[in-house]
Amino acid sequence: MSTREPAPPALPKAPGGFLRFLRSAAIFFRGFVENPAMVASVVPSSQATIEAMLAKVDWSRCRLFVEYGPGVGTFTTRILEYLPPDGRLLAIDTNPRFVDFLKKTIDDPRLEVALGSAEDVESLVRAAGHSRADYVISGLPFSSLPPETAGRIVAATYAVLRDGGAFMTYQFRPTAKELTQARFERVDTGLALFNVPPCILAWGWKENAGAVRDAAE
Ligand SMILES: C[S@@+](CC[C@H](N)C(=O)[O-])C[C@H]1O[C@@H](n2cnc3c(N)ncnc32)[C@H](O)[C@@H]1O
Repeated sequence: MSTREPAPPALPKAPGGFLRFLRSAAIFFRGFVENPAMVASVVPSSQATIEAMLAKVDWSRCRLFVEYGPGVGTFTTRILEYLPPDGRLLAIDTNPRFVDFLKKTIDDPRLEVALGSAEDVESLVRAAGHSRADYVISGLPFSSLPPETAGRIVAATYAVLRDGGAFMTYQFRPTAKELTQARFERVDTGLALFNVPPCILAWGWKENAGAVRDAAE
């Protein structure tokens, strides 16, 4: 199956339109003003960044997709459009304002929004009824996080991913890419120029003997 074709819109679509755009822009900006280090950007990611990041996902093998730092849902709504009808998306954010906004504006039974830290991904995945994630995408400002927190998040992410799964990051600074390169067996990288500011993309693939066996089955 192609990794780029969106799944048919069999389930409720996330709301779009100009009104949601205006509301989300206002909430995002307010989140930035209240906590600039944790939000780390005045504008959400561009469509070009979103499509570039998601192009490497094999949606036919995606049962649980995890998103760190969804903010106002810029990636969330697009992930839901690609996600298979029996897939699940667990979005984790530390900001109650963003969590509340997502819960109120996206009506999709495949989405679970959790108020919490990416550090706790393993327990949050278990609480959502899963043992492993297929993909984890991160919008976290890794360079603003305490180094020990950043290290714990990458270690927990590696542990929660299935063999063959990927940790995907987009960040203005190279911190997330470097942490991924230090932990994952194979890392693809890219650059999103049409983003404010341009950002570094990385896909860390968990590849070990189990992954090779899975692929052969
Ligand atoms: C740069 S914004 C990304 C927003 C959105 N994903 C986008 O691409 O436009 C960073 C987000 O990470 C969240 N965040 C920061 N630290 C976090 C943590 N430890 N766990 C989960 N979310 C966190 C912030 O609240 C914010 O929503």
